[in-house]
Amino acid sequence: MELVKLEDNLKLNIPEIDTQHETLIKLINLLHETMLQGADKAALDKLLSQLLEHTQMHFAYEEQLMSQHNYPGYEAHKSEHDRLMQHLMDLARRYKNGDLLLSFAIVLELKGWALVHIEKSDKPLGTFLDRHN
Ligand SMILES: [Fe+2]
Ligand SMILES: [Fe+2]
Repeated sequence: MELVKLEDNLKLNIPEIDTQHETLIKLINLLHETMLQGADKAALDKLLSQLLEHTQMHFAYEEQLMSQHNYPGYEAHKSEHDRLMQHLMDLARRYKNGDLLLSFAIVLELKGWALVHIEKSDKPLGTFLDRHN
């Protein structure tokens, strides 16, 4: 089952960012599959760390691009990144402490924020960069 897929309408046509988004989606898919296959704790720990690391790198990449191009939506976009990162870190911490079981609902929620953020925040950034290059 393909839980998350990057549809053409979610592509920014900025290859670097599109590839990073594909990886983000792939990691969420892997997390979902691994969770369904009996939730091997070591594998889930590793995937969560990879997801954190990748998301951090990806957000920093976009923020760098935004500040380079004086993107007017920088503040709003950056605070959305901060909020999502905080949520993800909180989730990973609770999971590692054993206070949280990864569930279908949690992975669905991750899917939700990834797709909504790409559509509502990253797409407008892509359009802006396209016009200013
Ligand atoms: Fe973003
Ligand atoms: Fe993004």
